Amino acid sequence: MGKDVIIACDFASEAEVFRFLDLFTEEKPFVKIGMELYYAAGPQIVREIRARGHKIFLDLKLHDIPNTVKKAMAVLSELDVDLCDLHAAGTVPMMQAALEGLRRPDGSRPMLIAVTQLTSTDQKTMEEDLLIERPIDEVVMHYAARAKAAGLDGVVCSPLEAGKVHAACGADFLTITPGIRFAGGAAGDQKRVTTPAMARELGSDYIVVGRSITAAADPVAAYRRCLSEFLGKEA
Ligand code: C5P
Repeated sequence: MGKDVIIACDFASEAEVFRFLDLFTEEKPFVKIGMELYYAAGPQIVREIRARGHKIFLDLKLHDIPNTVKKAMAVLSELDVDLCDLHAAGTVPMMQAALEGLRRPDGSRPMLIAVTQLTSTDQKTMEEDLLIERPIDEVVMHYAARAKAAGLDGVVCSPLEAGKVHAACGADFLTITPGIRFAGGAAGDQKRVTTPAMARELGSDYIVVGRSITAAADPVAAYRRCLSEFLGKEA
């Protein structure tokens, strides 16, 4: 899989997501379906978006006992998504079980990536709520290494961490990076933001872009701008 822009389709209904996707008459963007849309519209929304020809990152961040995650992943693999995720905090046995569950009868499987520490967790909350006293950067890199050891394909991380993850886990270990804004755009609730061009320089494999595209006056133009900046091509 080459580098690409993944649009976070954070919509609350099928009608809204199709109104948005109908704007794209020439290209079929890689889309991310998260908990909001999946819980609102159910697995059928995944089948329908797939049937329209989009690649899909199903971002449901599973975290449960290995057997439960294995069975849930087996169900998700039948939805024919390209990429899905879980929490590395579920530990190596859970991640290995997830991989087993994802493998389809023909031997193929969606790619599987791990969330390390959520960006909403900082050093203070990690220490107070999780009783983890090591520096958060060390924890993130340790979780990435455990995901790699379990056989996963990569991690969700900040573009600012992409280089470190590649250095520790290998150039092929994927870095999928949210927190992207155009130069001069509003950061909103994201704390550490990076432009698409900067994410490319930092080594991100996939950028996940939500509101900079979905809330733009011209979402198709914003998507094309993201692609050209991230892939380093002239628009
Ligand atoms: O609108 P925005 O570009 O901030 O959307 C980013 C997307 O990436 C959202 O769907 C958000 O849930 C997701 N995400 C994130 N930070 C993480 C993990 C996922 O922003 N650490």
